[in-house]
Amino acid sequence: MGALRAAAETAAALLLEGYVDRWVEGAIFPCEVAFFLARCMTEDVSVVVESGRQDGYSTEILGDWARRNGRKLVSIDLEQDPARAAACRRRLAHLPIELVKGSAYEEFGRWADRLRGARVGFLVDGPKGWPAISMMAAGLAENVRLMAIHNLTVGSGERAFFEQFGTEVFYETALAEPGPRWRELRKREIEVAIREGAARSLEMSSLGVLVLDSKRRERIRGALRKEFGLHQPRVVRALWSLGAYRATTKLYGLSYRLLGR
Ligand SMILES: C[S@@+](CC[C@H](N)C(=O)[O-])C[C@H]1O[C@@H](n2cnc3c(N)ncnc32)[C@H](O)[C@@H]1O
Repeated sequence: MGALRAAAETAAALLLEGYVDRWVEGAIFPCEVAFFLARCMTEDVSVVVESGRQDGYSTEILGDWARRNGRKLVSIDLEQDPARAAACRRRLAHLPIELVKGSAYEEFGRWADRLRGARVGFLVDGPKGWPAISMMAAGLAENVRLMAIHNLTVGSGERAFFEQFGTEVFYETALAEPGPRWRELRKREIEVAIREGAARSLEMSSLGVLVLDSKRRERIRGALRKEFGLHQPRVVRALWSLGAYRATTKLYGLSYRLLGR
């Protein structure tokens, strides 16, 4: 518990170096990014694989942390708006980030495979919900230390899926007695979110960060759930292992069209 508190102080200090005021609607909240970073520190993650970059708010913070600590970041996005994507790439050019354009359903498979020798943390903020969970589950191997997903809304099945592993997946419970920098970050975050008219709740965080051990990994990798529709993690993993990356994106699309999930 002490290690997480200390790591959260280090992460909060980084965010307080000008990142709170730059928060934009739709981005992960500052305390949520800081919590993910703190977990990366306690789990000694060497490479983060992020999917969902948009304007690069979370990406820039993760990239800054990577630069300062000799870590790496792989950031995947569909980049559907070329002008927006180009502006984002320019902003991030100075950081050690592998910027990937493509569908996370296939790129996650490629990168999870390439990074087998690294200590990896997954962070998904697009796609969302069950498809994002099955995609991360499919990519789990012994080297993956963390899996995190954004927009776990209160009362949702996806949030319950994360909470079954313990309430410390959210910072409110994991950091019951945070230090002074964290408290400052939280105060500043609330001010900025109010100023910007944030659409999301400020009461409860929605970034679930799950620390993985071999028992949890096995349970999640092997999960069979109706909410996964056709994209059961073991099916996705089998397609990736055959190199059928494009087919994986098609599988998710088909599942949505046929089953609505
Ligand atoms: C909410 S935004 C991400 C915001 C960012 N994480 C931040 O905190 O600033 C969601 C992004 O996910 C991307 N996205 C959605 N589905 C995707 C998919 N299947 N593969 C890759 N990117 C996807 C969208 O293009 C969009 O840019």
